[in-house]
Amino acid sequence: PSVTYTAFDGSETAVEGFAGDSVMETAVRNGVAGIVAECGGSLSCATCHVFVCADTVFPAMEDLEDDMLDGTAVDREDNSRLSCQLKLVGDADVRVLTPETQV
Ligand code: FES
Repeated sequence: PSVTYTAFDGSETAVEGFAGDSVMETAVRNGVAGIVAECGGSLSCATCHVFVCADTVFPAMEDLEDDMLDGTAVDREDNSRLSCQLKLVGDADVRVLTPETQV
């Protein structure tokens, strides 16, 4: 599936991802700016914050992700998620916005 990251300034980066990988892993592997992922995906840093676009659906978050989203550098919105928890499924394309800063 394709994963499209739109930065705060509106610039878009689209890359090919693999089912089972996370939106965070896909960004890091491709050197996409805007996602820091300090903790490497262990749900303890909140520097992988993204805003999920309306055309993209992921399963509901668990409580720990919800708690961690209270500590993001840019305030959370209703569509905020931690991208290390967002797994690509099948061929479903994904679109997210990255916040102005992660730290
Ligand atoms: Fe640290 Fe997602 S990479 S919480």
